[in-house]
Amino acid sequence: MKLAIMGTGYVGLITGACFAEFGYQTVCVDKDSNRVNELNDSKCPFYEPGIEDLLDKHLNKTKLLTFSNSLAESVKDSDIIFITVGTPSKRLDGEADLSYVWNVAEEISEHISKYCIIVTKSTVPVGTTKEVKKIILKKINKENFDVVSNPEFLREGSAISDFMRPDRVVIGSENNKSADIMRELYRPLYLLETPIISVSIESSEIIKYASNSFLATKISFINQVADLCESVGADVQDVARGMGIDKRIGSKFLHAGPGYGGSCFPKDVKAFISTGEKNGTDLSILSAVDSFNENRVQLLTDKIVKKSKLKKGDTVTLLGLSFKPNTDDVRNSTSLKISKLLSDQGINIKSYDPEAMKNAKLENNEFILCKDAYEACKNTKAIIIGTEWNEFRALDFNKIKENTKNLVIFDLRNIYNAKDFIELGFEYYGTGK
Ligand SMILES: NC(=O)c1ccc[n+]([C@@H]2O[C@H](COP(=O)([O-])OP(=O)(O)OC[C@H]3O[C@@H](n4cnc5c(N)ncnc54)[C@H](O)[C@@H]3O)[C@@H](O)[C@H]2O)c1
Repeated sequence: MKLAIMGTGYVGLITGACFAEFGYQTVCVDKDSNRVNELNDSKCPFYEPGIEDLLDKHLNKTKLLTFSNSLAESVKDSDIIFITVGTPSKRLDGEADLSYVWNVAEEISEHISKYCIIVTKSTVPVGTTKEVKKIILKKINKENFDVVSNPEFLREGSAISDFMRPDRVVIGSENNKSADIMRELYRPLYLLETPIISVSIESSEIIKYASNSFLATKISFINQVADLCESVGADVQDVARGMGIDKRIGSKFLHAGPGYGGSCFPKDVKAFISTGEKNGTDLSILSAVDSFNENRVQLLTDKIVKKSKLKKGDTVTLLGLSFKPNTDDVRNSTSLKISKLLSDQGINIKSYDPEAMKNAKLENNEFILCKDAYEACKNTKAIIIGTEWNEFRALDFNKIKENTKNLVIFDLRNIYNAKDFIELGFEYYGTGK
């Protein structure tokens, strides 16, 4: 089987590289020529553990992976064409902006020359995959293709292992022919006994949004419980442990913190709310999840300013800028939002992140970027731990104390305990503790 992947972002590039690892001839297409040139030089446009090795292996050694900016050439010979372009939020109402999907569908329709399957792997609202079919049918008059929905569940930071060892593969199709070809495509996962769920296209599209919205709900829920714990003197980590041990609840996504961010949860929750509204269905539970999450960064910033008595001209340290560890992605990063709210009040921010400083600087010019965490923690009034990178988990606070007295620590990710700071004389605030 020959595969073509439209879009070389996080999902497209990982999908392409992993299918090449399964042994398929794969071409990844992007309209961004700079990105294609970089990839052809084995340079990954973003940080993701393990991707550079896969690129080197399949681009230079097996030659199973190629990159191109010619959609026409790539589509012509392909058996399965994946759409992996972005589906960001429209600014006003949070509805998904599908313009990239429509554009790529129009372009594909011009170049199909034999039977193929067109797969929406981007996260798209219910009805989108069938709209893609309509767009293509406008150009080619006989139905010599199928459309399939095959949403992606990988997480940035562990994207390769998520793709190679997924909890499940979801295939939404209209007929057995296309479903069977998709099952054959994922045959390398049979050995791992990965469940492959065959459903209708509509169910498949909803599975993706319902999954992300449910995880976001768990996060907002535990964050509300964390706020209650703070008011009454309980510890949200103990509460989460006591809850999560119950198999019906599960321990994952019960970590209290600054709220969810990143390129998926915020936009997907908003888009799912918008789908509910369009279909006259009550998804108000998600409106609560979304608005609580949106307001949380302001509440945390107010707490930081109040507890450390910050004034205009003061300096604070922000450790971690990416929306989570092991990625350089700063899209909707809670750290960046907090830093913006602080710098709007005239507070200086010294920061360090192992991978995300370049992207963060493009978003916010106000940072003083430092060469490591210790440099960032010199002569500061407060340290905010915004992202739980491993290298922040065992900092030597005795060393930090040499340059900085009377520190206040805001451990937004609960990687330390108050008792770690008693002897040092630092004030410590976790989340929900
Ligand atoms: N990032 C994640 O962790 C993740 C996980 C699961 C699902 N998703 C979903 O996958 C989709 C893609 O997300 P992403 O983070 O990879 O996006 P991204 O913004 O990182 O990448 C999209 C790429 O598509 C390219 N592109 C746009 N129009 C094109 C066209 N006409 N032809 C060729 N290339 C084109 C862009 O240049 C860009 O490189 C989204 O729907 C997202 O919600 C993302």
